[in-house]
Amino acid sequence: MTQAIPAQISGQPVLILKEGTSRSRGKDAQRSNITAARIIADVIKSSFGPRGMDKMLVDTLGDVTITGDGATILKEMDVEHPAAKMMVEVAKATDDEVGDGTTSVVVFAGELLKKAEELLDKEVHPTVIVDGYKQSSDKALKVLSEIAIDVPPTDREMLKKVAMTSMATKLITEDKGHLADLAVEAILEVAEKEGDAYKVDIGNIEVEKKAGGSLVETKLIQGIAIEKEVVHPGMPKRVEDPKIALLNCALEIEKTEFDAKINIESPDQMKTFLDEEERLMKDMADKIADAGANVVMCQKGIDDMVQHFLAKKNILAVRRVKESSMDKLAKATGGNVVTNLKDLTSKDLGKAKLMEERKLGDEEWVFIEGCVNPKALTMLVRGATEKIVDEAERSIHDALSVVRDVVRRPKVVAGGGAPEMEAASRLREWAGSLSGRIQLAALGFAEALEVLPTALAENTGMNPIDVAVDLRARHEKGEKWAGVDVFSDKVEDMMKLDIYEPLAVKEQVVKSATEAASMILRIDDVIAAGKEKTPAGPPKGPGAGGMGEEGPESEY
Ligand SMILES: Nc1ncnc2c1ncn2[C@@H]1O[C@H](COP(=O)(O)OP(=O)(O)OP(=O)(O)O)[C@@H](O)[C@H]1O
Ligand SMILES: [Mg+2]
Repeated sequence: MTQAIPAQISGQPVLILKEGTSRSRGKDAQRSNITAARIIADVIKSSFGPRGMDKMLVDTLGDVTITGDGATILKEMDVEHPAAKMMVEVAKATDDEVGDGTTSVVVFAGELLKKAEELLDKEVHPTVIVDGYKQSSDKALKVLSEIAIDVPPTDREMLKKVAMTSMATKLITEDKGHLADLAVEAILEVAEKEGDAYKVDIGNIEVEKKAGGSLVETKLIQGIAIEKEVVHPGMPKRVEDPKIALLNCALEIEKTEFDAKINIESPDQMKTFLDEEERLMKDMADKIADAGANVVMCQKGIDDMVQHFLAKKNILAVRRVKESSMDKLAKATGGNVVTNLKDLTSKDLGKAKLMEERKLGDEEWVFIEGCVNPKALTMLVRGATEKIVDEAERSIHDALSVVRDVVRRPKVVAGGGAPEMEAASRLREWAGSLSGRIQLAALGFAEALEVLPTALAENTGMNPIDVAVDLRARHEKGEKWAGVDVFSDKVEDMMKLDIYEPLAVKEQVVKSATEAASMILRIDDVIAAGKEKTPAGPPKGPGAGGMGEEGPESEY
């Protein structure tokens, strides 16, 4: 229940907050936050695991996204409730940190809140629940690191298995193996040894997509590929040892910003005028050639005349290159993006071994290979339709991330819910040593962990209760890798099935979900400013509107 803010103190109404502010307190605030967060978890629970369903999301502009990726679903959902937003954020944070496990973290946080609600009903204080959850989370992390297996950081076979597990939940295709190989290849190429450990900057790998062809045609390019063509037919299509000028200025004659009139009185004057224009444009081409460049990548336009002069000098030019591509080019080729042509010097030029225009499907692409920074790679994703390519790109992102996670921290666990089940089982034992209500919180935490294997089972059509009972019994017998084999609908040893995941992902899931649930539980007062009224504008008719009706958001 919400309550207006004017408080009565000794008969005097004291207004401390703005008109229209609403407030909900204590149990009301807790319940509504928990409910909102749990709804989010329920929405994405059905897309968990290899047999999970996909969601079709339509945005305000009518663009459709079809995906089973937790972070993407939540990002596209555009939620409004502040507690629900926290769940979206925790998924995003997990994605940024480890790149996978975003569905797990939200489903687990939702279940922690469900158990907390049951405890609140039993009059257990939220602080006790938060404490109990924190201790349980520490214990679970300890169990996970105890059962994790050390692997060599560059063990290709293991890395491939990890990539396959993460991709299995997104792409239903036989071509996973090929994509997994590419992901491993790419990460190992950009990995840098630092002492005993490896550092991996995933930003060196650019994922480009192009609908058409099939997933097996996806390939790794040593360097950069951009969907652009050489601007002039007279220019070379292939340049060895390119010296690349990266320009962020138009190679055109600047138009005056006001209407100018030039009175020309004789044909001579006309000629001089045109000659002068031509000279200015020729100067531009000369300036580029004088700096020693034989390739121009320009973020803006290039005038036909300038193109002509460049072509005469055998310089390859590409125009209207995206800003993001310019940045990548600069990083890969060691060049500088220059904003004023006058400033261009030979020091600003980027270098590579080869630059070439090639046809991919119906489009022309330019490839810049053998860059100065050998770590610059491009993964070019192909696939029959745009939707397939989009989902393939997302699963490649997950695959690259998990391989990176293992290279960075070479420890893995088996998947299929086995580690969560093992942690739950050991937590239950440990909870016996706790006294008082905190024990209830620890037991709640252990039960909540079981939601991950049971959700996997539920999404294949197995009976989640039977599976939970079976799994508990097996783990108590010491079968620590017993999990849900979603393809044979049986409880199996996940290690025998080669289902491996990075320890880093599991840890992140436990840590982040506990933090999110605790943060929501600690709130006992929600003070929400009233929505500001949008100033009355002209009536919105067809064609009159902008991009949806976005009023100023209320601050929470
Ligand atoms: N062949 C398999 N059999 C059983 N479980 C599997 C198999 N492959 C993957 N899994 C399990 O599926 C779960 C991951 O599912 P999913 O990828 O849908 O969610 P997520 O990784 O938490 O989130 P997201 O990938 O959306 O960021 C993991 O627990 C993993 O162990
Ligand atoms: Mg996943």
